[in-house]
Amino acid sequence: MTIVIPEVRRFADAEAISRAAADEVQRIATAAIAARGRFTIALSGGSTPKRLYALLSREPFRTTIDWERVEIFFGDERAVPPDDAESNYRMAREAMLESLALAPSRIHRMEAERPNLDAAALAYEATLARVFGLALGAGSPPPSLDLVLLGLGPDGHTASLFPHTAALHEARRWCVPNWVPQQSAHRMTLTYPVFDQAREIVFLVAGAEKAAPLAEVLEGPQDFDRLPSQRIRPAAGRLVFLVDEAAAAKLGRH
Ligand code: 6PG
Repeated sequence: MTIVIPEVRRFADAEAISRAAADEVQRIATAAIAARGRFTIALSGGSTPKRLYALLSREPFRTTIDWERVEIFFGDERAVPPDDAESNYRMAREAMLESLALAPSRIHRMEAERPNLDAAALAYEATLARVFGLALGAGSPPPSLDLVLLGLGPDGHTASLFPHTAALHEARRWCVPNWVPQQSAHRMTLTYPVFDQAREIVFLVAGAEKAAPLAEVLEGPQDFDRLPSQRIRPAAGRLVFLVDEAAAAKLGRH
């Protein structure tokens, strides 16, 4: 496996992380649009990125990012309807998407409310294939997202790649359903093959409850099954952790 050296950037608090993340998004979006005519991003769920999304929907980012050229994807979703309080799509819609009035055709949500989650995951793969102009099927390369935003769970999960779950071992599919016994819940998630191809991956990690898992992920012994975030290694891309002082409290060499 490729050796990827993560870049760790420390900030005072979650607000400072959000501001730095907004600057990263703008920089990466501008470069991607200049190079390839559009910017593809996978959003993360949870609560940490909410402030980032709110910042992106306001000035200066509202104007400095060419939103007409942005394709929005999601890294994972909970198996709930899109208007459910647990929905990652709903969070992003309320925090950012509806205020930016993006064309619905450029917002690609995971339809994890469908009774057949595998069919929904296959449909998401088809959407990725269409937008990226790729063929689906054995041997076809996964899409290369310009930016993937991720969070770190207190148990070491990221996206909906939870410890000791089946999706961790997916080597071919781009998007899969994942049963998470720890949460007694179904989730849908992009897979390592997609994260491996990302051009840039930015983790947002804030709060004292993240201090122990962050230290284990960055500095502990390799244990991908227990710490799925440790296996996030974009093969030719950049991996950045934006962390606040509380989350960085147990870091040694970073
Ligand atoms: C989700 C996620 C998840 C999240 C982490 C961290 O759907 O919940 O995408 O992987 O990023 O649980 O969440 P916080 O940053 O809110 O702690």
